[in-house]
Amino acid sequence: MQEKFYLTTAIDYVNGAPHIGHAYEKILSDVIIRHKRQLTDNAYMLTGTDEHGIKIQKTAGEKGITPKELCDENFSKFEEAWKELEISYDQIIRTTDEQHKRVVKQIFKKIYENGDIYKHSYKGLYCAGCETFLNPKDLTEDGLCPVHMKKPEEVTEENYFFRLSKYKEKIANHIKTHPEFIQPSIRVNEILNQLENIEDISVSRTKASVQWGIGVDGDDTQTIYVWIDALSNYITAIGYDIENPSEKFNKLWPANVHVIGKDIIKFHSIYWSAILMSLGLPLANTIFAHGWITIDQSKMSKSLGNVIAPHTVLEAFNLEKPDAFRYYMASAALSGKDGNYSDEDFKEKVNADLANNIGNLLNRTLNMLVKYFEGEIKPEFVSNNNSKIAILAENTKKQVIEHFNHYEIAEASNTIVSFADAVNKYVTETAPWSLAKEEKMIECGQVLYNVLEAMRYIAILIHPYCPNIATDILTQLDEKIDFKYDNLVWGKLKQGKITEKDKIKPVFLRLDSEFATDKKKA
Ligand code: ME8
Ligand code: MG
Repeated sequence: MQEKFYLTTAIDYVNGAPHIGHAYEKILSDVIIRHKRQLTDNAYMLTGTDEHGIKIQKTAGEKGITPKELCDENFSKFEEAWKELEISYDQIIRTTDEQHKRVVKQIFKKIYENGDIYKHSYKGLYCAGCETFLNPKDLTEDGLCPVHMKKPEEVTEENYFFRLSKYKEKIANHIKTHPEFIQPSIRVNEILNQLENIEDISVSRTKASVQWGIGVDGDDTQTIYVWIDALSNYITAIGYDIENPSEKFNKLWPANVHVIGKDIIKFHSIYWSAILMSLGLPLANTIFAHGWITIDQSKMSKSLGNVIAPHTVLEAFNLEKPDAFRYYMASAALSGKDGNYSDEDFKEKVNADLANNIGNLLNRTLNMLVKYFEGEIKPEFVSNNNSKIAILAENTKKQVIEHFNHYEIAEASNTIVSFADAVNKYVTETAPWSLAKEEKMIECGQVLYNVLEAMRYIAILIHPYCPNIATDILTQLDEKIDFKYDNLVWGKLKQGKITEKDKIKPVFLRLDSEFATDKKKA
């Protein structure tokens, strides 16, 4: 049996429309899951939307609609965006789904019965933006929330509290003995420090202050507070149930990776770990925290008016397929680091890598195959796996797998592009056009074979980033469309007549930024 791979993404708040920061995470996740599907039949991706809480209640109120209407409206926008970007999730959960609400109530009850939830009267500083009580020492000098730059409200409430402090040592121990748990590992110390000062947390709000949420079973004065509700999606979606967990749950849990942004790593590595420990469930193998996407070097925010929807980018560059945008986003930042989006950089990067490097290489080589050999790959052209390019191809494949195992998504695409660079150099050095002139036809054919076989590798390796371009490359090579890594064996390239003059088409057309700027002005 092949190993399973279960990946989850953060669930997005539906109090607005998706922007390219949300898209970044879903693209990274999709690239990972598509890569895993090349290796196993049991790869499963869950994404979703986070639909409860005071922010949604307030926004809906301001718009004069019900919270559910607001959720429905914005959920559709996320769904549409992921469709346009070809995010190939297996499941999308909404926290307003009945099944989710039912099981979250069970989870809360079970933790209460374990003695890890207790009722407690509490006075604190609440930030509606963060949906959390803030510690006075985390405020700015002027007493403002450092994230929202607003004064938190003083709130006194009787709430349910979760005994997070009880799990402090156990979590620290887990982190220290599982180096793969928090990735990239530069975040580990930050979490261990936070863990030292961790206190019990409030996990409910009074109905009077928050109505839009899941009620507590047997206590109609309280609403379950967002994090237990939101985090539980990773298990409720796949059929967790206290009494009777589904077969699917037993097969998929624990998750192999929770892909999240670095701003919510504390909730995942500390809160979620404690919840799972209280429920007696194993923790995910890895929490992978990606960095932030900025726009022209500044943080995206509604007040700065620089929030970009993924659709705007595709439209501005007149792109029918999402490949170029997916490729650019997935390689925008090294693992865990911040990345920046700019139109100019987008254009340059995809023109250089997809059009000039990969696209031209295929095009030139197929044209030579037609010119010198009428599009035919002859048996005497086939090289063995000791040739220079064959060895490089195999090494590239190994490095790509290794990078993916460490959630180094941009590092993996850089490796693929470096390979294409090396193949381009090989063409320049061997100069197949000169070999043809000198009538060294077998040598010439051997060079073309090496390049086209390398292109087949590149198509399969680049598939998770650029599924359409990868398909076009294989089509041009007259290969069957199958991206499984089993096909990455040197020498499998189809022989015989594979192409002719009018079958050769560029797989990616250069982008023109003038066009984008005009379109945006319009
Ligand atoms: O945090 N760059 O929802 P959310 C990169 N509902 N990633 C970004 C980003 C940016 N500019 N802006 C947001 C929540 N993200 C909770 C999650 S999970 C059980 C609950 C990422 O809509 C962010 O880091 O604010 C998070 O991982 C995801 O988008 C959803 O953010
Ligand atoms: Mg957020």
